[in-house]
Amino acid sequence: MKILFIAAEAAPFIKTGGLGDVIGSLPKALNNERIDTRVILPLYSKIDKEKYNLNFLKYVFINLGWRNLYCGIFETKLNGVRYYFIDNEQYFFREKIYGEFDDAERFAFFSKAAIEILPHINFRPDIINANDWHTALSIVYLAILKDKSYEYFSRMSSVLSIHNIEFQGRFNCELLDTLFDIEKKYHNALIYDSDVNLLKGGIQLADRINTVSETYAQELMYPYFSFGMDRILKIEKNKLLGIVNGIDYQVFNPNKDKNIYFNYSKTTYKEKVKNKLELQRELEFEVNPEIPMIGMVTRLTDQKGINLVLEVAEQILDMGTQLVVLGTGDKHYEILLKELEKRRKDKVRALIMFDAILSSKIYAACDIYLMPSKSEPCGLSQLIAMRYGAIPIVNRVGGLKDTVQPYNLETKEGTGFTFESFNAYDMLYAIKRCLDVLYYDKASWNKLIKNAMGYNSRWKKSAQKYLEMYKEIEKTDFIS
Ligand code: GLC
Repeated sequence: MKILFIAAEAAPFIKTGGLGDVIGSLPKALNNERIDTRVILPLYSKIDKEKYNLNFLKYVFINLGWRNLYCGIFETKLNGVRYYFIDNEQYFFREKIYGEFDDAERFAFFSKAAIEILPHINFRPDIINANDWHTALSIVYLAILKDKSYEYFSRMSSVLSIHNIEFQGRFNCELLDTLFDIEKKYHNALIYDSDVNLLKGGIQLADRINTVSETYAQELMYPYFSFGMDRILKIEKNKLLGIVNGIDYQVFNPNKDKNIYFNYSKTTYKEKVKNKLELQRELEFEVNPEIPMIGMVTRLTDQKGINLVLEVAEQILDMGTQLVVLGTGDKHYEILLKELEKRRKDKVRALIMFDAILSSKIYAACDIYLMPSKSEPCGLSQLIAMRYGAIPIVNRVGGLKDTVQPYNLETKEGTGFTFESFNAYDMLYAIKRCLDVLYYDKASWNKLIKNAMGYNSRWKKSAQKYLEMYKEIEKTDFIS
């Protein structure tokens, strides 16, 4: 079987968030199952062509409405996976990878190119797996080509993976034929609430849809979580499946990680505290192994529950903790966190930046990892935190519910602490319960660390579920 992933980002080439991590690791895991899995990405100016050995293959032209657009094709191989890159400097040599005024056009071009170059690179996948709104249109373009009986595409099926339903690619309907080059017959599939909605087009036309945890797949049936998409998802729900993400065990490994001060494993976890002492020194906090350190590595947005932390920050600190937050995002959260830091300089660091080295140091140093997301499709940080022995405290939604088992003081099972409603005081109480164990029940705390570090978030199991989904599609295709 052959699979093609089409996505807007993939680690290590280019990454702004969880999508990049997943596209950087799931194809590798599928390849390990002996599935020929390849990836197509845009060639952004930020991608280092030399470092990753990108070779120019050829160029073709892609028609988009009245435009005939240059499309260079580069390729490279990394960890056994073949990656293709679509080059068009006008679209992708920009400061940002998202958030440009012409994102609609940039990603329409990319989505169309990703399908149309396939005969030119001589790759004929059984399944194309698009990811999020940026590449949802590739499913529509594939459907159109199949409709026109192009033999090359006739046996290809499609999957849309939804990593975050909040972002849907909504644009003005006028763009449909002028910009997206979509014929009338397909307009209805793309229109939703009087807009063009690219994600909706993908949802409607894909053979299967999956999202990144089972609980999130269920939550998407409700308006609270679905950002308006529950109506279409209810109609298409027989195609919808939840498969929880994994993490790359080679990349996130406290025993090998070069970014942290001291390496440690599940058996040498007592070394972990040395990382806390070093980070306390580096951040100019009081250096003391007994002070619990709480960490957050996060986008500073409403979705991540930053408002809950700000609401009860003083109470959290008054329980004797130190708090380190690393990330960027909405300006008002950046400012409020900086103000908190100014007020409680002895106990708070607001590191308003994106820094992979520092993030490893935080996972390794912290006793507790706080993730009070309002909604969370899967979440990778809690998985990384557990692997580094930082005990997660999470709101019980989406992937957080599926991956963090609340600690049970009687049976000594579980890997973290959870709260059940999106409320600052419920979160505070969960932090208190967690600190009670940390301060007064060291045996349980050590058991918790061992449980968390032993939690299996390897890709293997989930990669097999993707495979089952792909095989299922093939079977139904065959019957029809
Ligand atoms: C998005 C989601 C996150 C998920 C990631 C990868 O960033 O917000 O929950 O883990 O995509 O699927």
